[in-house]
Formats: sequence, structure tokens, C-alpha cells
Amino acid sequence: MKPPTQTNAHSEDRLLDAAKAALRKAVRPVTFSGAGLSAESGIPTFREAQTGLWAMYDPMALASPEGFATDPELVVGWYNERRRNVASAQPNAAHCAMAGRQDIVHVTQNVDNLLERAGANDVVHLHGSLDRDKCSGGCGHREDIDLANPLPLRPCPLCGHWMRPDVVWFGEQLPRVGWLRADQLAAEADVFVVIGTSAQVYPAAGLIATARRADAIVIEVNIEPGATPGIQLTGPAGRIVPELLSL
Ligand code: OAD
Repeated sequence: MKPPTQTNAHSEDRLLDAAKAALRKAVRPVTFSGAGLSAESGIPTFREAQTGLWAMYDPMALASPEGFATDPELVVGWYNERRRNVASAQPNAAHCAMAGRQDIVHVTQNVDNLLERAGANDVVHLHGSLDRDKCSGGCGHREDIDLANPLPLRPCPLCGHWMRPDVVWFGEQLPRVGWLRADQLAAEADVFVVIGTSAQVYPAAGLIATARRADAIVIEVNIEPGATPGIQLTGPAGRIVPELLSL
């Protein structure tokens, strides 16, 4: 990224002021976040060249029901590495600023627990959570997982199918209750703050269009200039989000 020129800095200040003014008036503000929110905590994103997880690993081998059926041990081992990484990470300034705004509902695609560890009490996880396992056979059995000491591949104690991370894989449906709530929140939002997502994975990314159809003001925080029409705040979430959400 180029350093801002003075003119750029002025227009960035104006955009930030406009975004803050919109949030001050908001009655039903919602955030919608992705991997960029946790990047400054040391959690890798997915689609960034070289450093993104999907630049280094095959998503279909590690994050699909077919990949799990082919090599469940590999998949569980990979997720357990990610779990240990999250356990040793700390919430960053963006998580803390979001947690400090108890009036805002936070919808996230992230499977980490950094918003909760920062103190957020209303987080909708669209893609599941690393801190639970579920039975891959669909019997409904779930177990909490200590991220620092995740359990190895093992059978479900109720039905004998393999236990697997309770996250959404490619080709799978989103958790129904969370999705319905997120869709309704987007449809009723007056300000919709999109933080650190490439907005390429549907149906989650469709929430932005839903909010726009509802005439919400869309604010996008991203380290790269975004393509989302609305107020663009370009820079790291750890710097911009605390400025944006401070009252
Ligand atoms: P991506 O890796 O696709 O996008 C990360 C976004 O964060 C990019 O737009 C970056 O420019 C931006 N970014 C990186 N660092 C940032 C920072 N410090 N501050 C602000 N923005 C930053 O990740 P997601 O959009 O979350 O799904 O990906 C969506 C889904 O695809 C994930 O939930 C996951 C993945 O496959 C499943 O696993 C089902």
C-alpha cells in the first residue's frame, strides 16, 4: 500500500467522519466480518496471495466433506493446528472496539473466538466455530473443544461415526438458526459495517446486498481498497475499527 498523500489523508478523514455520523444515528447497526478482522492477531486469511490459507493448502482436501471422507486424520490434524494457533492468539484492537459496542450485533464468518474473548456478547457465527466438534454422521452429538488441547480423530460416543470440527465446509449449508438471524439483521439494518472480508463466499456475502436493498448505509473497512459501493475506509482493521466505533 502507498503512504497517504495529504489530499488522500483529508478525504480519508472526511469518509471516517461520514461513517461515524451514520453510526451515531443508527438504530439497528450490524457488523459483518471476515478473516481480515483477525489478521492482526496472527490468524491467516484465506485468499490473500502467498499468505492466505487457500494459497498454501487445497481447500477441497481440507474443508469439504469429500476431503474428510478421504483422509479424516489429515483434516482433523490441520484443524487442530488452527485451533492451537487461535488459542495462542489475542484479540486485537478491532475485536476489543467491537466488543465494547454492546448495541451492535456482530455477524462473522470467522470460526475463531476472538470477539467473544474480547467480551462481545452477541456474535452470530455463520461458518461455525473451532471450539466445538460434531458427529459427522449427523446424530447431533456435539462436544466443546479446548482450543489449546484439541482432541485427536475419534469416533462419536453415540453412533460411532467420526467426530469432526463444527465448521461449515464447501458444499455445506450454513447453520440454519444463525443464517436466518443474520439475514433478518441485514434486512433490518440501517448501518451495515463490512470488516475484513473479500465477500466472495455465498450465501454469507449476499448479506451485503440484502442490507443495501434495505437502504442501509454500507461502510467497508479493508486493508485494500474495496469494491463494495458505500463508504470505503481503507486500512488495517486494528487501526480503523477503533476510530470508527469510538463514540
Ligand atoms: P478472505 O481471505 O477471502 O478475505 C480476507 C479479506 O481481509 C481480504 O479482503 C483482505 O484484503 C482483508 N484484510 C486482510 N488483512 C486485513 C486487515 N488487517 N484489516 C482489514 N482487512 C484486512 O477471507 P473471508 O472473506 O473471511 O469459509 O473468507 C470467507 C470464507 O472463505 C471464510 O469464512 C472461509 C473461507 O473459505 C469457510 O471456511 C467455509
